[in-house]
Amino acid sequence: MSENLKGKKILLGISGSIAAYKAASLTRLFIKAGAEVKVIMTPASTSFISPLTLSTLSKNPVWSEVSSEGSWNNHVDLGLWADVMIIAPATAATLAKLANGICDNMLVAVYLSARCPVFFAPAMDVDMWHHPTTQQNVKRLLSYENKLIPVEVGELASGLSGEGRMAEPETIITITNQYFDKGKLAGKRILITAGPTLEALDPVRFLGNRSSGKMGIAIAEAAAHRGATVDLVLGPTHLRPYHSNVNLHKVESADEMYTKALEIFDSCDAAVLAAAVADYKPETRADHKIKKSGDHLTISFVRTPDIAAHLGKRKKDQIIVGFAMETKDEKDNALVKMEKKNMDFIVLNSLNEKGAGFQHDTNKVSFIFRDKTMKDFSLKLKTEVAEDILDELLKKLP
Ligand code: PMT
Repeated sequence: MSENLKGKKILLGISGSIAAYKAASLTRLFIKAGAEVKVIMTPASTSFISPLTLSTLSKNPVWSEVSSEGSWNNHVDLGLWADVMIIAPATAATLAKLANGICDNMLVAVYLSARCPVFFAPAMDVDMWHHPTTQQNVKRLLSYENKLIPVEVGELASGLSGEGRMAEPETIITITNQYFDKGKLAGKRILITAGPTLEALDPVRFLGNRSSGKMGIAIAEAAAHRGATVDLVLGPTHLRPYHSNVNLHKVESADEMYTKALEIFDSCDAAVLAAAVADYKPETRADHKIKKSGDHLTISFVRTPDIAAHLGKRKKDQIIVGFAMETKDEKDNALVKMEKKNMDFIVLNSLNEKGAGFQHDTNKVSFIFRDKTMKDFSLKLKTEVAEDILDELLKKLP
């Protein structure tokens, strides 16, 4: 059940909740699974469970202060050491500090220095959990690519009952184990297109669209976290990926995106085409700013290259995942695109769905497959949609 944890470096952050007692069995289960564990405690948590218990179980010193006995504890080293950081329990106060970068203890300092994925398992009373402040902090942490280990429902320390219990240690082990199982993209190279394209009319003006690049960047980051080498061909946006496995190729127009994508595609195992590419560009680009003259201006447009269709023709055993952004007859239009462009499956998002499509942090998608079957998903963060797409892609990769 926990075979993927062998040899993994786990940084366990504990904050001050009665659920801190569960950290002892969590540490023991990680060690039993062959992982290496280092524990960081907030000062408040040491009233709930003794550092000695955790250092004995983890076979490592426990850190709770930024400095001790006149010397500085290096939070950067700890942050860089870990394969994954798990903050369990994460109290309302710790969530607020993490979400806002309030770096007044060792745990937050390590969190801010960590380059590995961070999971957090909240623990608090039901009303604290449902309070908009807490929910806002959780949302913020998720938007920074952290991963939530959901709270459980049950009896709480206050005597109340409801949502807010920290997940059981066995559940946290299962989730961490599954996370490392997703490292299966190691050794794979994935091409991703994202963002809009801008088609210049003159040195000042262009024809563009509303894509922010968020969807494609989320896929690029998620694939990199799973071990893939990613080539992200990104149209103009102020957003950018952070993972060092992502090679960023910035382009402006459909022509540039086409040239770069074709250059990379042959050496890739898969392509995920999330870009909103202009279908037409102005036939000519004026050398100088077009001046006002008369009441009407007529511009002639010509087709841009269809990147997806070209890759679809060229593909050997690569998997191609396309996107379809539709406003009516969604399924039929997406099906036609998938077949015409020789995609393996297509991700449909519709502007008729609230919170879906351009610019939102969320998306609501359906996957459509070559046998015309469909898989519908609820509204989710784009980071979660990215994971769903990669799960599906993994099933299709040889
Ligand atoms: O960037 P965000 O703000 O996060 O928004 C995400 C998104 C809405 C842009 C994204 O989820 C999405 O739907 N991308 C595809 C948008 C689109 O224009 O789709 P389409 O139906 O026009 O094109 C179908 C497919 O062909 C797409 O995979 C597209 O990348 C590809 N295509 C289209 C035209 C072209 N010339 N070359 C292409 O490769």
